[in-house]
Amino acid sequence: MKRFEGKTVVIAGGGSGMGRVSCQKFAAEGAKVCVVDINESAALETVKLIEAEGGIARAYGVDITKEDQMKSLFDDVVERFNSLDVYFTIAGISPVGTATTTTFDDFRKVVELDMYSVFLGCKYSIPHMERQGGGVIIVLSGTYGIRPTPNKIGYSAAKAGAISITRSVAIDFARSNIRCNTIAPGFVNTPLNNGFEGEARQRFLDKYQPATFEIQADDIANVALFLASDEARAITGQTIVVDGGTEAALYLNYKRPAAN
Ligand SMILES: NC(=O)c1ccc[n+]([C@@H]2O[C@H](COP(=O)([O-])OP(=O)(O)OC[C@H]3O[C@@H](n4cnc5c(N)ncnc54)[C@H](O)[C@@H]3O)[C@@H](O)[C@H]2O)c1
Repeated sequence: MKRFEGKTVVIAGGGSGMGRVSCQKFAAEGAKVCVVDINESAALETVKLIEAEGGIARAYGVDITKEDQMKSLFDDVVERFNSLDVYFTIAGISPVGTATTTTFDDFRKVVELDMYSVFLGCKYSIPHMERQGGGVIIVLSGTYGIRPTPNKIGYSAAKAGAISITRSVAIDFARSNIRCNTIAPGFVNTPLNNGFEGEARQRFLDKYQPATFEIQADDIANVALFLASDEARAITGQTIVVDGGTEAALYLNYKRPAAN
C-alpha cells in the first residue's frame, strides 16, 4: 500500500516550483491532491501532470491571502473528498529591500502572502481536522526567518512570523492530534530563482552553501512526505532546515576547501 492511499492533501502554491513537485510526489504516494494556486491555469497544468501518471487531483484557483476564499476552499475539499488529512502551505514571494527602501505597501504584501496566509490556512483547515480526529500542517518558511540576511526585511519578518505561527499551532492543537511543522529551505532551484542563474548563482552557492550540489524541489518535497507521514508522529512545532549547511555557519563568505 502506498504511504498516502486514501488521504486528502491540500497544497497551496501547487502550480509551480516546490508546490508542483510536492503535489506530484504526494499523488504518486496515493493521495488525492488538491492543487491550490492563484494562477488557476498553472494549477490545472499540475493536475494534468498528475493525471497523466494515473493519480487523482483537482485544481483550485484560490488567492490564499483572501479569507473568504480560504474558508470556501477547505469547505469544498471536505465536501468533495470527505476528509482533510494534510495541508501544506508553500506559496510565497521573496522581495528585497531594507527598512528605508521598502515601501509600506510592499512590506504589507509580503507579510500578507508569506505570513497572514499561513494563519488563514490554519484557521480554516484545523476545524475540519479536529472533526475527523487529527491532521498535519506543514508550512514552507525559509532560513531567513531564522537568521535574516541583508536587504530582506519584509521577507525575513514574514517567514519569522510563519515559524512562530507553526509553534503556536503545534502547542495549541497537539491534544487534537494535529501536528504542525515548518520546512526552512536555503537556496532551491525553482522558477522563483529564474532570474538568478549561471555564474552569479554559482558564485553565490560557492560562497554561502557548504554542500556542493544545487538543492532541488524534490529535496524539499521528500521532507514534506516524511513530516506528513506517521513516521514523524512525535515531531511537532519544529523547523526542519533543508539548506546544505548554509544556516549552520556563524559567518558568511564560506571558502570551499581546496580539492585534495
Ligand atoms: N526557491 C527558493 O530558493 C526558496 C528558498 C526558501 C524559501 N522559499 C519559499 O518557498 C515558497 C515557494 O517557492 P518556490 O520557489 O516554489 O516558488 P514559485 O514562484 O516557483 O511558486 C510559487 C507559487 O505560488 C503561487 N502563488 C503566489 N501568490 C499566491 C497567492 N496569493 N495565492 C495562491 N498561490 C499563490 C504562484 O502562482 C506560484 O505558482 C515561497 O514561500 C518562498 O518564499 C523559496
